[in-house]
Amino acid sequence: MSKILILNGSARRKGNTRYLINQMNDILEKKGMESRILHLHELNIKHCRGCFWCYEGFPLRCVQDDDDMNEIYPKIIEADTIIFASPIYWFNYSGQLKLFIDRLVALHVKGGHKLDGKRFAVLFVYGDTNVKESGVQHAINSIKHLIRYMKGETLGIVHGTANDIGDAEKNTRLVAEVRELANKICNAS
Ligand SMILES: Cc1cc2nc3c(=O)[nH]c(=O)nc-3n(C[C@H](O)[C@H](O)[C@H](O)COP(=O)(O)O)c2cc1C
Repeated sequence: MSKILILNGSARRKGNTRYLINQMNDILEKKGMESRILHLHELNIKHCRGCFWCYEGFPLRCVQDDDDMNEIYPKIIEADTIIFASPIYWFNYSGQLKLFIDRLVALHVKGGHKLDGKRFAVLFVYGDTNVKESGVQHAINSIKHLIRYMKGETLGIVHGTANDIGDAEKNTRLVAEVRELANKICNAS
């Protein structure tokens, strides 16, 4: 069975990112995918220290044993598809997602990265009704770099406006695109 890991970079339990993730996950589960959602704000994720301990023999672990990352690494490695979902904060994805991504340095292997060749999908939500003003393009560019670095396949990048709690479900275009992406993820799995 195909394993899908959804990374939620929003702190709001009733927020827009979470609503859209749930929409997506409903389809994934109904179609028999084995999906797991990591609500990053509910986890203990410290910042990367930049020590490169993880380059010494590539243990696929971090020297920091006092947070949740060493337990999370195997779950990332076993996923076939990884979904980055985040609100836009200050013209980029959230700091919580950035903390998590920084810690992926520990998954380097000799000559590559343990996530090389995986499938990826992306979901961003922002408050601004003007896509250019929202800053989402910075987030998209950054994630595209990451996926290229990992020689990954991009299944889709969906984004749209939803500011206050409850706005996402009113954005029918966005909800439809999220559900379409979920179906595409299932078909690719
Ligand atoms: C700290 C902070 C920074 C934000 N920065 C932006 C921004 O740069 N561009 C934008 O369009 N919306 C911005 N927003 C609005 C959020 O992206 C928007 O409220 C979104 O719905 C939050 O998603 P959530 O409900 O999943 O938490 C910001 C919100 C916060 C709290």
